[in-house]
Amino acid sequence: MHRKNLILGIESSCDETAAAVVAGGHEILSNIVASQSEIHRKYGGVVPELASREHLRQIVPVVREAIEQAQITLGDVDAVAVTQGPGLVGALLIGVTYGKVLATSLGKPLIAVNHLEGHVHAVLLEARASGREPQLPAVCLIVSGGHTILCGVRAEPASGGMHFSYSKIGATRDDAAGEAYDKVARMLALGYPGGPIIDRLAPYGNPQAVRFSDPKMTGNPYDFSFSGIKTAVLHHIRRNRELETEIEARRQALARGERGADRLRALSSAATLDLAASFQRSVVSTLLSRTFAALAPYPARAIFVSGGVAANSELRGAFQTEATRRGIEVFFPSRALSTDNAAMIAAAGYAHLLAGDRADSTLNAEANLPLA
Ligand code: KG4
Ligand code: ZN
Repeated sequence: MHRKNLILGIESSCDETAAAVVAGGHEILSNIVASQSEIHRKYGGVVPELASREHLRQIVPVVREAIEQAQITLGDVDAVAVTQGPGLVGALLIGVTYGKVLATSLGKPLIAVNHLEGHVHAVLLEARASGREPQLPAVCLIVSGGHTILCGVRAEPASGGMHFSYSKIGATRDDAAGEAYDKVARMLALGYPGGPIIDRLAPYGNPQAVRFSDPKMTGNPYDFSFSGIKTAVLHHIRRNRELETEIEARRQALARGERGADRLRALSSAATLDLAASFQRSVVSTLLSRTFAALAPYPARAIFVSGGVAANSELRGAFQTEATRRGIEVFFPSRALSTDNAAMIAAAGYAHLLAGDRADSTLNAEANLPLA
């Protein structure tokens, strides 16, 4: 059986090797993600050389699995969509090169996708799959370990489909929000990645216990900065020496492979749980205030939140409450589509296919590819 518009998506921008087959822009037939977090865990962050080597090992089996799980053959694919950037150049090159080879050998169109645009389409894909097409224009907050960016999303009819356009509203000037989570978790010996564990521990602490100031941005008021809060957490630990003993105890527990949230919570005092809760409250309220403030200059009819940090429970709750209060709809992808995956690349690729966009064999990876 041949379904129309089968897009094979390939994603390798950071530490996930991913391939997916999506039919008609919204029906996920397979979505395979090989995560490297075990490999990077002991370094507390992604090591680019190790990431490229692992992508090289994984790309062929991951694509094969995506094809098998979709119960199709490579010949059934109508187009190959691949992440061109932004991301780690060595990591991107593996996906771009493999995507080019596949598209050429199959004689099928090659489509270049911006990774950030993929995060926007993760939202559109799922909303569409559940019959809930969001109203555009939208303001989209993309918030992950590598990015924190606020952008406007519009769509206009073009040839056989819609042409999506993006405008940058604000972005982080230093660390991404997920990076701040990972660095704070590292300082507190809570393991890697830091977001999911801080998310689990924060409800046990008092979010008002430690005050972190929201940095005032000169210039663009929609920009973010997360390096200050990271330094403030470090100073707080230095001023409260008693925290060191439990940090050491957790470090040893992690070294023994005890990474469960319950175990780490048992090894955390109220002071640590308060610190985790206060850190999270500060990050979430900064993300929330900038996003909702952006509704003033940008005429949005919906808010999208996407990227790894969009999985955060407090963030989801806070955005939902504020959106309800303001009478605007907010859309989050499911947790599986919030983090890096290739279904979102295939969905973005489908929009390009309909709009007539094609890449050719000169396509190259671009580490700093801008969204707009
Ligand atoms: O989108 P993603 O898988 O990869 C990129 O960085 O592009 O996002 C990973 C990031 C990590 O920094 C991780 O700590 C953070 O997302 N993260 C979370 C949660 N789950 C993952 N941050 C806060 N709360 C979470 N539940
Ligand atoms: Zn991402």
